[in-house]
Amino acid sequence: MDFKNIISHCKEYGFIYQSSEIYDTLAAVYDYGPYGVELKNNIKQYWWKAMVNMNDNIVGIDAAIFMHPKTWKASGHVDAFNDPLIDNKDSKKRYRADQLIEGYAEKIEAKIKKDVEKARKRFGDAFDEEQFRTTNGRILERQSKIDHAINTMNAHLKVSDMEGLKSLIEELEIACPESGSRNWTDVRQFNLMFSTQLGNITGEEGKLYLRPETAQGIFVNFLNVQKTTRQKLPFGIAQIGKAFRNEIVARQFIFRMREFEQMEMQFFIQPGTELEWYEIWKAKRMQWHRSLSVPEEKLRFHDHDNLAHYANAAVDIEYEFPFGFRELEGIHSRTDFDLASHQEFSGKKLQYYDPETSESYVPYVVETSIGCDRMFLAQISLGLQEEVVPDAEGKDSTRVVMKLHPSIAPVKCAVLPLLKNREELVNAAQDVANTLQPYMNVQYDEKDAIGRRYRRQDAIGTPYCITVDFDTLEDNTVTIRDRDSMEQQRVQIEEVASIVNKKIDMSSILS
Ligand code: GAP
Repeated sequence: MDFKNIISHCKEYGFIYQSSEIYDTLAAVYDYGPYGVELKNNIKQYWWKAMVNMNDNIVGIDAAIFMHPKTWKASGHVDAFNDPLIDNKDSKKRYRADQLIEGYAEKIEAKIKKDVEKARKRFGDAFDEEQFRTTNGRILERQSKIDHAINTMNAHLKVSDMEGLKSLIEELEIACPESGSRNWTDVRQFNLMFSTQLGNITGEEGKLYLRPETAQGIFVNFLNVQKTTRQKLPFGIAQIGKAFRNEIVARQFIFRMREFEQMEMQFFIQPGTELEWYEIWKAKRMQWHRSLSVPEEKLRFHDHDNLAHYANAAVDIEYEFPFGFRELEGIHSRTDFDLASHQEFSGKKLQYYDPETSESYVPYVVETSIGCDRMFLAQISLGLQEEVVPDAEGKDSTRVVMKLHPSIAPVKCAVLPLLKNREELVNAAQDVANTLQPYMNVQYDEKDAIGRRYRRQDAIGTPYCITVDFDTLEDNTVTIRDRDSMEQQRVQIEEVASIVNKKIDMSSILS
């Protein structure tokens, strides 16, 4: 399904609304509706169970959003958490310089793809894409333009050369997408942290930041947690929470927001073992995604071209969103940068006493960090499909169905009386719904014809519909309709809870 339709579906069916809609919205801030919050909670639960419940050596915390202002000086965010910003003087629109350059490269890449497709049609089965890409003169020329743009940009970003970025934008003749002009300001660094002021302290001393990542709440609590849980290295601390970034260009719906939620885990290890653990976590995290039935070709690793100020190795797990492959999760080997820096700024020791070597040292850290909202978007865009299926008379009809994994679906099952004007059916259906409620999120629905109710449940991703009909009154049986196959199975009412529970149980994907 295309991206526009995904966005409107999310609103129409109560998954996501734009923030403050009645005041014409607040850009890049979103509210989750009744089905959205259920799906998001289920995603968080899947992550939490996989991290904390399934690992003896990982524990959870929930740190505050506000932290001592020195935290952000120590973490490097005050000085280095910047994006290169540029304005077009004619349109007055603001852009990220690196995104303008990447956009230039993406346009050329699209042309290459077109050429490849044309050649594929011309040569048929004999077509060898690899050979074509490496020998065709026009493609080679285009590829060298992309390489030049990206490599030069990366070199400038590495040394924060803002003048270099501006010259590159001029050299590539990049125009403002809005005004078409090349009348650019200089490129300057823009810090992404939101700040606010403590009520009782004026000036810099009282300047607080809304955390741009949850990780720092874990670092500053490292010793508290280690001592109170008596964990030995290696061990991890996991956290789910809000993070805030003043993104210059926030677009693509919930992909890039100014307020979002992260699920992060810092794994504390012996120095020197970090690359080993980095590989282990890369594999474990990819497995977590695949267990949710995400097709292999939709996920890939992408090594970072520019390492963040804290990392000595970093990779993204990218997902193929409707607008292309983009970062879904980051895995970073953060060395001892954060703990050592907090130790220096706070003057408090943040060392681990290793009983095996009888030494004290600052542990190294491998981090896994995934945006909960991006995971939500990935699941929605993977699940939402339009299908042609036979209707009640056997004719072709189109249905919109959200094929979420049953364990994360917002509503697990809907209970539907065949007719709403027959009291005995309604009563029996309400009884079935009541017995299922303690086990799962159930929806009772009696409005409209049964076919329309099935469609409504398909559209929100409900994996099972339980229908109470006249046979129910005779023999205590109901039908269970499977969302994906649309097949119906007749079962005894007493069996419903255990049948559905088995199918929605998260333990099947966790183990
Ligand atoms: N602690 C490391 C860290 O924050 P990051 O790559 O900047 O690393 C981690 O962010 C994850 O947070 C990303 O992979 C992405 O899923 C999510 N994320 C980052 N910025 C976001 C934004 N503006 N909106 C939504 N999700 C975002």
